[in-house]
Amino acid sequence: MQASEQCHGYTATNTVDFKRVQRLIRKHTSIVISDAKQDFVRARIMRRVRELELTGIAEYCDKIENGTEPVSNFTSLVTTNHTHFFRERHHFDILLSHLSDSLKDKIVWSAGCSSGEEPYSIAIALLEKYPDLLDCGFRMIATDLDEKIIEQAKKGIYPLERIEPLSNAQRSQCCVRGVGSQQGQIRIKKPIRDFIEFKTLNLDGELVFNHKIDIIFCRNVVIYFDHETKVKLFANFADIQNKGDLLFIGHSESLNNITTAYECIGNTTYRRK
Ligand SMILES: C[S@@+](CC[C@H](N)C(=O)[O-])C[C@H]1O[C@@H](n2cnc3c(N)ncnc32)[C@H](O)[C@@H]1O
Repeated sequence: MQASEQCHGYTATNTVDFKRVQRLIRKHTSIVISDAKQDFVRARIMRRVRELELTGIAEYCDKIENGTEPVSNFTSLVTTNHTHFFRERHHFDILLSHLSDSLKDKIVWSAGCSSGEEPYSIAIALLEKYPDLLDCGFRMIATDLDEKIIEQAKKGIYPLERIEPLSNAQRSQCCVRGVGSQQGQIRIKKPIRDFIEFKTLNLDGELVFNHKIDIIFCRNVVIYFDHETKVKLFANFADIQNKGDLLFIGHSESLNNITTAYECIGNTTYRRK
């Protein structure tokens, strides 16, 4: 191989294939994958290439484009689902301090909920203050682009060590411990699992809600979206929120130069103006 054909150890063909992968990721998830992530993304896709016994990444891209590989399999491979219970705990304290005595007819949306720790943390935090949460007319919606992760979130099963951030009272109120083959795992109690409406939704698509959303958690999701997609998404959020409603974003995200529809009221916490 000539040195001129190589770039950081990849051949020219590899680079063309990766550009195609980047375009497909952008098209189906809005995520912009930098060249620096090439090793990481390539390794994930190659696992699937081997599973399907394909000749390489180009053939895999063909299958996505001609519909013989479901797009959901592809998006599952390339999204980052890292999350944990009570991530960015200050948000839950702010949430509780801003809510009124009644949650009747209020709606909270966890947008980009991954495997469910975020919406379950919201429910767990609220249940302490509002014991009648599950039947007071309050609604919780949790969505993610990744179908597989939504199926996992609905199950609400986690290794025991994942619930370390929960107090003993929260553990006994909200979790059951697995026995036998489920030893070492916990499951979120059924009434809480059933209460949350889990759905797949691409945030880059149309956001159709027949109600305004009082509280939106959209944390650590838009970090890899391009500027234009962020502007469109936060404009859509502003449309579905009323003055005074809350929006929580991730610790490394900001609304500067994205929207003026919100005012910052705390650490990565915004209120609709
Ligand atoms: C890093 S996780 C964040 C989970 C949780 N919000 C938190 O902060 O712990 C990012 C999630 O965003 C989802 N995601 C990425 N692009 C998306 C899109 N276009 N629409 C909806 N969800 C998306 C991913 O599937 C992933 O589960």
